[in-house]
Amino acid sequence: MKNYETVEVETDLLICGGGMAACGAAVEAAHWAKKNNLKVTLVDKAATDRSGAVAMGLSAINQYVGLKDGENTMKDYVDYVRNDLMGITREDLVASIARHVDSSVHLFEKWGLPIWKDKDGGYVHEGRWQLMINGESYKVIVAEAAKNALGVDNMYERVFIHEPLMDGDKCVGAVGFSVREDKFYVFKARAVLVAMGGAVGVFRPRSIGEGAGRAWYPPFNSGASTYFTLKAGAELTCQEVRFIPVRFKDAYGPVGAWFLLFKSQATNALGESYMQTRRGELEKWAPYGMVKPVPANLRNWLMLLDVMEGKGPIYMQTAEAIKNIAEKETDPKAAKKKLKELEAEAWEDFLDMTISQAILWAATDIQPEEKPSEIAAAEPYFIGSHSGASGAWVSGPEDLAPAEYFWGYENMSTTKGLFCAGDASGASSHKFSSGSHAEGRIAAKAAVRFLVKENPPKPAIDGAVINKLKDECYQPMKTYEENVGKTTQEDVNPNYILWRPYMQRLQKLMDEYAGGVAAQFATSKANLDRALELLAMLKEDSEKLGANEMHDLMRCWENKHRMYQAEAHVRSMLFREETRWPGYYFRSDFPKMENDWECFVNCKYEPKSGEWEMKKIPVKKIF
Ligand code: FAD
Ligand code: ADX
Repeated sequence: MKNYETVEVETDLLICGGGMAACGAAVEAAHWAKKNNLKVTLVDKAATDRSGAVAMGLSAINQYVGLKDGENTMKDYVDYVRNDLMGITREDLVASIARHVDSSVHLFEKWGLPIWKDKDGGYVHEGRWQLMINGESYKVIVAEAAKNALGVDNMYERVFIHEPLMDGDKCVGAVGFSVREDKFYVFKARAVLVAMGGAVGVFRPRSIGEGAGRAWYPPFNSGASTYFTLKAGAELTCQEVRFIPVRFKDAYGPVGAWFLLFKSQATNALGESYMQTRRGELEKWAPYGMVKPVPANLRNWLMLLDVMEGKGPIYMQTAEAIKNIAEKETDPKAAKKKLKELEAEAWEDFLDMTISQAILWAATDIQPEEKPSEIAAAEPYFIGSHSGASGAWVSGPEDLAPAEYFWGYENMSTTKGLFCAGDASGASSHKFSSGSHAEGRIAAKAAVRFLVKENPPKPAIDGAVINKLKDECYQPMKTYEENVGKTTQEDVNPNYILWRPYMQRLQKLMDEYAGGVAAQFATSKANLDRALELLAMLKEDSEKLGANEMHDLMRCWENKHRMYQAEAHVRSMLFREETRWPGYYFRSDFPKMENDWECFVNCKYEPKSGEWEMKKIPVKKIF
């Protein structure tokens, strides 16, 4: 075995992750830390300039409330989110983000992000809450501000966090490994903020073969937030609330600009608009089926009903939408100019954030002004910051949170001193890039307040504990090295399992039993019980993971993280005996929405015994 150097870093606040929430946290924490003479450190598995969901850039800022200009109120946003999530939302958290999000957007603009302007200098809206941007460099701009605030010496890139560092039931930092150098990192901290995004690759993806890495959600986020918070003993919420995005098929281009800005329609292959022909179905899901906009899962559901009846493929009628807008110009010259403008905007929408969709259009001879494009429901993802809701159960702000939802510091999980933001914090959907940044700021400010008020001691961790964590970290390398000579084919070996077949086992079982694409997103108690049996065997085999180099070691840990995300998901779907989000998943044994399930499902993992605790928590309304 190689000798891996152990690098110890002592800090006051450790930020795990380098995405939107982490960059927001860095900017805010740096400000308050300076005033209080505290040290803040950030660690990202990738290069912060291009890490996380915003890596490729974005074409819109999806949360802007316009509070100051009186465009909307905090309550308007809470109403929108509550309805979209079929009643299951932490109104205090959503309101807290809504009242701060605009200031994050104004900071982005100040740092150089081009936001589209109309002829009067106002922001161009995609929809009520969304602003159009030239966002190819969005993440670079946001990361630069984080770097300037923290100083690059306080940022560790390409270090994969694989475990929390625990002192009894206290989280006192994190451990991880460099994915480029032979270095094992021990971050000792007095408070920790988790912002390592959501998870992709838990379910078998639609894309196969050479396209396998192409998913809607970025392949780099693999459930680290869930794993870390579970292992740190924190309570999680809404683990059943996955997100199934409907996207342009195979390259996952965004649909928001088409639906909201271009007012495009989606139809089945017979040219029927399922949003109209299936309107009656919405009554079954009242009151949420009756609201505007129709909740995302119900929009999916109406589409899936058509697909299940064999009426697919489903098409976005791009040509018709472009024509409708251009025809509003009465002067033929102006209409032609408008058409060109719209064509350019359509391509830019993809080039800003999903370049592969533009390439696929080019490769398959699609000109959006001439013919429609296929759209389809993707495989399930975990992204609590978007239209899913999974994440940690965190404290709300004192002035907004009902007593049951408040325990001292905003965004602190039920593990003292462990804060969460972005995809890592749950039940506060629709924060997107801007709201995640704002929530990172809220959480970081609270974490510094926690450090100042509670003054927790410096962690003192026994050397033997560190050595054990280090051995566990590199075990796959050892297992591989010891056994590779025992077979002639590297990937078939009775003594180890490589990450890819391990991941494929996870994805297959989730797909088939836990409501993936193959099962048309349907599942039941019998299926979920079977998923748990297979997961238990997979967990046993995780001890046999083998890796022949650093990159594969990272893949091993990513898939271990995914497995815990999978288990939290299966257990939560099993516990909730109703169907609340058809279009995300359907419980065929409990096909209706039930009033007594208008509550949160929370779960907790006991690392010592390996047992899970599941519970119902009432939804408290504040508006
Ligand atoms: P991320 O920004 O994804 O950051 C996660 C971070 O954690 C990354 O730095 C990653 O490298 C790091 N990390 C992960 N695992 C580890 C580990 N083990 N160790 C260390 N670091 C780790 N929002 C909009 O406002 N407008 C849009 O147009 C829009 N479009 C989107 C399109 C797509 C395809 C997707 C996936 C999302 C889109 N969003 C959009 C939503 C937005 O990107 C997310 O809401 C936001 O990025 C969430 O922030 P986060 O910090 O929680 O996660
Ligand atoms: S993105 O995350 O990849 O940018 P997308 O472009 O589909 O998502 O959607 C952007 C925003 O538009 C999100 O806020 C989403 O909820 C909203 N949206 C998308 N389609 C619709 C629709 N048909 N009706 C209402 N809102 C929509």
